[in-house]
Amino acid sequence: MDLIPAPSAVRLDPHRTLPLGPDSTLAGGPGTEAAERWLRTELGAATGLALPRADRPVIELRLSPSLAAGRCPHAALAPEAYRIAIGPERAQLTAGGPAGAHWAAQTLRQLLGPEAFRRAPLRRTGWALPLGEITDAPRFGWRGLLLDTARHFLPKPELLRYVDLLAAHKLNVLHLHLTDDQGWRFEVKRYPKLVEAGSWRTRSMVGFRDGQRWDDRPHGGHYTQDDLRELVAYAADRGITVVPEIDLPGHTQAAIAAYPELGNTDVVDTAALGVWTDWGVSSHVLNASDATLAFFEGVLEELLEVFPSEFVHLGGDECPKDEWRASPAAQARIKELGLAGEEELQGWMIRHFGRWLADRGRRLIGWDEILEGGLAPQAAVSSWRGYFGGVAAARAGHQVVMCPEQYVYLDHRQADGPDEPIPVGFVRTAADVYRFEPVPPELDEPGARQVIGTQANLWTEFADQPRDVDFRAFPRLAALAEVAWSELPRDPARRDWPGFEQRLGGHLARLDALGVAYRPPAGPHPWQRRPGVPGRPSDGPPPVR
Ligand code: ACM
Repeated sequence: MDLIPAPSAVRLDPHRTLPLGPDSTLAGGPGTEAAERWLRTELGAATGLALPRADRPVIELRLSPSLAAGRCPHAALAPEAYRIAIGPERAQLTAGGPAGAHWAAQTLRQLLGPEAFRRAPLRRTGWALPLGEITDAPRFGWRGLLLDTARHFLPKPELLRYVDLLAAHKLNVLHLHLTDDQGWRFEVKRYPKLVEAGSWRTRSMVGFRDGQRWDDRPHGGHYTQDDLRELVAYAADRGITVVPEIDLPGHTQAAIAAYPELGNTDVVDTAALGVWTDWGVSSHVLNASDATLAFFEGVLEELLEVFPSEFVHLGGDECPKDEWRASPAAQARIKELGLAGEEELQGWMIRHFGRWLADRGRRLIGWDEILEGGLAPQAAVSSWRGYFGGVAAARAGHQVVMCPEQYVYLDHRQADGPDEPIPVGFVRTAADVYRFEPVPPELDEPGARQVIGTQANLWTEFADQPRDVDFRAFPRLAALAEVAWSELPRDPARRDWPGFEQRLGGHLARLDALGVAYRPPAGPHPWQRRPGVPGRPSDGPPPVR
C-alpha cells in the first residue's frame, strides 16, 4: 500500500476488502471530533461520499488512552499512537489521543489509494479498504518543518496548504520563522511600524552572495494576528503545533529599519537603514538597552496571545559582534553587567528572554549558539550547525531538536546538474535525508533521550513562490517524515533506501493528486531551471561535527 511514513506493524490482505459506498457511515467518540470532521471533509471532497453519522458506523473513531500507553515506549507519545482494525463490515480506528485519531485518519486515506487525495470528486465507484490491522506510534514527539516566511513571504493559504502537507506525512510541528533582516511578518498592534515599514523591502538580491544583481521589484507581506490564530487552530485540528520564531538579537535589521532606536545608534545611522535587500547575515543587530528588552517583551506578549505552544523560538543564531565591539553603549552595558565581553552579552540577552518566557509558563528554544551563553535547564536547542551543539546540549540536560544543515536544510540543491535551480549549498538528495539519524552514536542514554525529535529547515532566499517551496521540500520531506516517525535502523547504512524509494513511487501519486510541485525523480521541469543565475559553487557538504 506504499504507506509513508512506515507504520510500526502492518498486516493487510489486499485481496479481501471492506467496500465503501453511498451507504457508508462515519462517527467518532469524544475527543475525535476534529479527526472525524477532517476525514468526512477530505474523503467527501475526493470521493463524493457523504459519510453521514450513524450509531453503528462503518468507520468508527474512538480514543482509548490505555491501549495506546501499552504500545508506546514513551508515555508522552501515547496520545499519538493508534490502531486500525478493518473487518468485512467495519473499520475501527482507536487512538491514544486526538492527534493519534488524526494520524489514524491519515493512514486510512492512504489505504484508499492516491485518488483519495484529490480535491474534487472523482466519478468512480469501488472505493474499498483492505482487511487487516495496523498498529502505529511515532519514534519522536517533535517532527517538524521550518518555513522561512521572512526571506520570502508565503501567503496564508500557502501556510494552510503546508499544514495539510505536514499532516499528510504525520509531521506535527510547523516552525514559523517570522522575522529576519529581510522582513518582519508578525503584526504587533502596539508597534505598527514593524509591519508597515518592516515587512517590505525595495528589492531582492538575485543569486547567492555575489551582491551584484537585484531584481528591482519590491517584496513583502505580513500576517495579521487573526491570520495566525486561524493557522494555529487549523493546525491544532490536524495534530500540529505551530512554534513561532522571533529571531534576536541578530537577524533583526527589518525591526531596526522600522524602529531605528532598537539598533546601535552610537555606531551607525540606523535611521538610514532599510529592510535588508541582500542575503547572508546583516551586521546590524539589536542594542542591549533596557528599552530594547522592554520593546521585545511587548512583541512577545502579543506573540504569546496568538501562539499557545509550549515552546517559543527566539533564534539566537549568527549575531555579528562588530557593532557591540564599536559601541560605547554596548561596552558600558557589558561592564555594568559584569560580563566578559560581547559573546556573554548575547547569552545574557537570551537568558533574559528565557526567564521572561519561563515566568509565563513557556519554554525557550533557540539555535545551538544559545548554548554558548549558558542556559536555564528547561530551555531547548535546535542543533543546526551539525550534531555537536545538540550533543553538548543533550549532555548538559537540555532537550534537543536535531536539524543539522549537513542533512536537513532543504534549501540546498538536490542534484549537481546545471538544470538545478539556484545551486544553493551542497547536494543533498532524498536518499541522504533518508539516511539521516537524529541521535548520533556518541550520544548514549540518558543523553539520547534528550533528543526529542528532528525537523527539516526550508530557508526561502531562492524559493520566491510556492512551487519553488514544493520543489525543495518534496520528496525530501517524505524521507524526513519516515526518519522522524518510523523505527528505522539507527545505523544509516542499514536503512532500506531502495524499499523506501519504491514506496515513494506510490506516494508521489498522492502528491500529484494534491498538486504538489515536487522535484521529479528525473530532474527539474523546464520552468524550474534558471540558467545564468549566479550561485555558490559546490564545495561538498561541510564536515558533520
Ligand atoms: C540558521 O541556519 N542560521 C539557523
